[in-house]
Amino acid sequence: MAEAVIGGKTLPVPRHIAIIMDGNGRWAKNRGLPRTAGHAAGGETFRKIANYCRSLGVEYLTVYAFSTENWKRPEKEISGLMTLLGKYIREGLRDMEKNHVRFCFFGDLSRLPQKLQTLCLEAQERSAGFEGVQVNFCLNYGGRDEIVKAARDFARDVANGVRQPEELTEDVFSQYLYSKDVPDPELIIRPSGEMRLSNFLLWQSAYSELVFMNVLWPDFTPADLDEAILEYHRRNRRFGGV
Ligand code: IPE
Ligand code: IPE
Ligand code: MG
Repeated sequence: MAEAVIGGKTLPVPRHIAIIMDGNGRWAKNRGLPRTAGHAAGGETFRKIANYCRSLGVEYLTVYAFSTENWKRPEKEISGLMTLLGKYIREGLRDMEKNHVRFCFFGDLSRLPQKLQTLCLEAQERSAGFEGVQVNFCLNYGGRDEIVKAARDFARDVANGVRQPEELTEDVFSQYLYSKDVPDPELIIRPSGEMRLSNFLLWQSAYSELVFMNVLWPDFTPADLDEAILEYHRRNRRFGGV
């Protein structure tokens, strides 16, 4: 685990931080701008925070960008978002080569526009060897969907004779999730003032510390991340013990 100076103190940095990037729409509304402008501003924040996490020595950063429920939004907002996501992944690729960020995608990409799917695969392949922070970008991601998919894949392996039902343990099941080989997040941050998980990392969040903050995602700064890490260090993690 890396150490960094946070709020004037040298502290261990969580290995895995997850963020629900929420509040773009309200940020735009407060400024009399279309919601898409909020998503564009949120994309910029993502870049800054990903680089900051890299400089702190965070190993994994998982960000919630589009949920399985976000398809309920107006068609215009969805298509604007898909265009922006393409732009950010393309720019991210450039940044990533400079900063050695490794890109992974969690979610069912098959429902995304074809061009975006290709871009995601390209980003994943081109960055696979990088050893900076690993960014897990959650796109068309839902925690329940992920668990159902894992159960289906395990059942298929049983039907094909590759696995026995008795072999199923928590560790084996974890290997069927998008997050296989990624440790559970110690810290999950949700800006925007909402206090819920909205179907984010349902399996992986079993013992995560949850930090809810009143800032809207486009306004979120490295100082807010420091604040969340300081709050994490104030928590007493017992994992069911005493
Ligand atoms: C988060 O911001 C981005 C996505 C869900 C795609 P929102 O768009 O949910 O912003 P609010 O919650 O309406 O302010
Ligand atoms: C969660 O935010 C999804 C993302 C940030 C991508 P939402 O804005 O969709 O969640 P709810 O609707 O407030 O629960
Ligand atoms: Mg929201």
